Amino acid sequence: MRGFCRRTKKVFVLVFIVLFVVWLFVTIIEFSFGLTVTTDDLIATGKTLRNGRQLKAFITSSYYYPISKSLGDNALALVLSINLVRNPANQLEHILSPDPSELIIMAQNASSSVIVSAPYVRVTPHEVCQVITIFATVQLISNVKSISMLGDNGMAEIPFTMPSYTKRDVVVCTSPLFVSEQWQNFLLAVHIYRKFGAHMNLYLISSVTSFYELMKEYEREGYMTVQPWVKVDFPGVPKTTADPFNQIEFRNQAASQTDCLLQFKESARFVTFLDLDDVLIPKIAPTYAEEFQKLMDGKKKLAYIFYHKENYDAVVARDSSRFSLKKMFGSLECKHNRETGKIVVDPRNLNYTWIHFPPILPNGLEKYEVTENVITHLKTIVWTDDQEQSRRILIEPLYFDNSTAKIISSKDILSIEKDLRRMIRKPRIRKIFAKLPNIHYFTDLVVKCYNDRYYRYHYSGRLGDIKCPGPQLCGFIQHPKIKCTHVTATHIPMETLYPITYYYATDAYFTSDIGCYAH
Ligand SMILES: *[C@@H]1O[C@H](CO)[C@@H](O)[C@H](O)[C@H]1NC(C)=O
Ligand SMILES: *[C@@H]1O[C@H](CO)[C@@H](O)[C@H](O)[C@H]1NC(C)=O
Ligand SMILES: *[C@@H]1O[C@H](CO)[C@@H](O)[C@H](O)[C@H]1NC(C)=O
Repeated sequence: MRGFCRRTKKVFVLVFIVLFVVWLFVTIIEFSFGLTVTTDDLIATGKTLRNGRQLKAFITSSYYYPISKSLGDNALALVLSINLVRNPANQLEHILSPDPSELIIMAQNASSSVIVSAPYVRVTPHEVCQVITIFATVQLISNVKSISMLGDNGMAEIPFTMPSYTKRDVVVCTSPLFVSEQWQNFLLAVHIYRKFGAHMNLYLISSVTSFYELMKEYEREGYMTVQPWVKVDFPGVPKTTADPFNQIEFRNQAASQTDCLLQFKESARFVTFLDLDDVLIPKIAPTYAEEFQKLMDGKKKLAYIFYHKENYDAVVARDSSRFSLKKMFGSLECKHNRETGKIVVDPRNLNYTWIHFPPILPNGLEKYEVTENVITHLKTIVWTDDQEQSRRILIEPLYFDNSTAKIISSKDILSIEKDLRRMIRKPRIRKIFAKLPNIHYFTDLVVKCYNDRYYRYHYSGRLGDIKCPGPQLCGFIQHPKIKCTHVTATHIPMETLYPITYYYATDAYFTSDIGCYAH
């Protein structure tokens, strides 16, 4: 994921120039013919599209806010995955059938209804994948009972949920996990977040079954939430029209992050977006909230603060009966190698975000690059049979800057280790602990697949060969002894609407019937 933005910058710039020229061309034509957008035009657009390509939008988030400080009361926020990026082969279609610039939405309550149009914005800033993420928000009426998306030949009712109104200081949004075996890494992260005052909201596609059971216990104990992350699918739509398996960036990570931002928009003071192997530990204050507040105080209104990532190696016990966080902390070794970082936001100052940061800075807001602290990125985690280090020695891992600074104090390490022991003593967790995997298999396949099919092209400069890193980038040969729990849901087939057909999934749950896959 890192390097994606840096190395393909030139390609993006080129694509943007091309798009700008096309846009200029269309605008000039529109001006010279004196066209303005009216409802008739929308219908005409639909008619054109009926003969051209079809737009397919999958709703990944649909939140209705009875009260919202930043979106306005009775606001709806939608995140959609839509096949807006054209196949480079038929860019000309753009001129023949311009895309609609708004979504038309109808809301009803017990006594009245309203039809509104909502302009949408692009979340995905590049054109490498054809199915991209977009965001739209609009104010509706009070006590909404039903919401429908309108097309020129009909409409479709869509589901919606309320965002969280449970007050929290900090929410950590963990990017979707798939075929995950990294239970040691999870324990480190979840205990650190608890210690320093954050709630973990983890998006899950699939993981080894015992690891899934462990997460569910931590959820029961109030440390975190497991949020099912369902695949984008358009039942009945040919791949040539919209291909959600090959043409969505990184299992729709940007949409998951935006979902998390929207879900906690009204309830969290701060939201941050981290991968499971990114460990952020406060350095200039005793808690996350105090550190973030300190960094934001006295500055102009910030859309986000940006923490760099420093790579570390970690060594962990493969056997869960020998696992300790104390030893894991002690094993951390800095690689003196930096990667693209992650952001922390005040959710009132941002409406949507891409994988590393938002595609644009909202009007009048600024960003701040944090120099006071970094994210500890567990780049490689080695599983060993035994760790040399004796049980009694306590090593405080070093901060990356070659000073005498530590990432975490021995006092905090001991208190985190104590909390782990307290959890392991719980009978249900003890039972699961004994089943945690002592070998890793899918972890290695993922690393190899991403290097072979993705990063290799960045590092060798073969940018033209980069394909969309879609969910099907990596196929996995199953392992006879390793079983996964995987998300599933009901994907509803829809009647074609013009100009856009809207799809969604309902009844998401986890099952052991699917296997270890990335989507
Ligand atoms: C329906 O919405 C309108 C406009 O917001 C509001 O005045 C009315 O009270 C609502 N009706 C109900 C039953 O809530
Ligand atoms: C978020 O959306 C609301 C409603 O459209 C808008 O008023 C606000 O300025 C947006 N916030 C940012 C940071 O763009
Ligand atoms: C710290 O030392 C390592 C090697 O000893 C070096 O590669 C790295 O650049 C140094 N880092 C800083 C921030 O000075």
